Amino acid sequence: MDVHLSGSWRGRCSVVRHTMMLSATSDSGGFIGESAAMITLRGEIALIARSDTRVLITGETGSGKEVVAREIHAASLRAKHPLLVVNCAGLPEPLLESELFGHIRGSFTGAFRDKQGKLELAHDGTVFLDEIGDMAPRMQALLLRFLETGEIQKVGADGAPACVRVRLLAATNRNMSELVQRGEVREDLFYRLNVMHIEVPPLRERTQDIPALVACFLPRTLRRDGSRVRGITAAALAVLKLYAWPGNVRELQNVVERMVLRSRHDIVGRDDVSDDLFNATERTRRPGRERRHSVSDALYARMEHEQQSFWTVVYPMYMRRDLTRDNLRQIVERGLREAGGNYRRVATIFNIEPHQYKKFLNFLRQQHCQPSYRAFRSP
Ligand SMILES: Nc1ncnc2c1ncn2[C@@H]1O[C@H](COP(=O)(O)OP(=O)(O)O)[C@@H](O)[C@H]1O
Ligand SMILES: [Mg+2]
Repeated sequence: MDVHLSGSWRGRCSVVRHTMMLSATSDSGGFIGESAAMITLRGEIALIARSDTRVLITGETGSGKEVVAREIHAASLRAKHPLLVVNCAGLPEPLLESELFGHIRGSFTGAFRDKQGKLELAHDGTVFLDEIGDMAPRMQALLLRFLETGEIQKVGADGAPACVRVRLLAATNRNMSELVQRGEVREDLFYRLNVMHIEVPPLRERTQDIPALVACFLPRTLRRDGSRVRGITAAALAVLKLYAWPGNVRELQNVVERMVLRSRHDIVGRDDVSDDLFNATERTRRPGRERRHSVSDALYARMEHEQQSFWTVVYPMYMRRDLTRDNLRQIVERGLREAGGNYRRVATIFNIEPHQYKKFLNFLRQQHCQPSYRAFRSP
């Protein structure tokens, strides 16, 4: 029997004849994880929550960086005040500036009334800056000024700046030291944000947490007839534990939801695990092959060895944000390396139909993932 429940999960689920049964209270929400890595992480969170320092939270996409930020805020003295989230990659620069600092009526087209920024709205609370590694240079300079002075200047305002007391937590799935080296992130900003550092481990390095996470996610999905699932077999859980989870907990959540929707039984079984996922785990188990740890490698192998198309393997994961821009770029670069810099040949390796070649290039261009072929041409 490989279903192992520990800590707070004991009692909420029970293991009956190779099946993990759920009880009515399985969906606790909050921060789940009793693996050694997560226990260490809990300790770090408790310690950091007591202080008021800035924290940089790193980790792969979907690993739970925002969950960690919420835990820090909830355990801190600021818990009664707001925690506001700003996604630094999601907004064009002028809107991001207004989102953070606010604006004055008439300061730009569409600014019909004065607006407070999140830094001001979160006074005495916390602001969580997500995807900080994607911030444009001018915004980095503005943020740095705020970090140094604690003052905010609304867009279009010319009076004296206002002072706010907020704690900043920042997160990124990119390698900040590399971004600093490449000149994409200011070094002074990096040091100011990275007073404390928390690294959230990827799910494949803490597979012991999978049963508890699955037990939390299973009852969340209602089927068309309004029914819920009552449990999952140990065989199905075993497959989930072998998979590499490139999109981490977010991907697990999506997979569990799809399993519930496709299952016609009370208990989700091995047959409800999608074939793609099952094949991916089979490959890692074949003797003589090392376990594939890199997301990009795993997806590349599916296109190269299993003749699956880019549109079914990479594209949907990227659109669901189970895959980062860096992952996509790595996959394209590997394709270019093997194709000697020839994009048409890359399309062939990725099993893209010739009539979709233009669509492929357009997609890469839109996502800023179209490296120059020159670096990959042999002399
Ligand atoms: N330890 C955890 N316990 C419960 N849910 C989690 C945990 N980690 C992640 N999740 C869930 O997975 C999803 C992705 O987490 P999120 O914090 O947004 O990841 P990230 O910010 O690293 O991309 C969210 O729906 C979140 O609730
Ligand atoms: Mg996030």
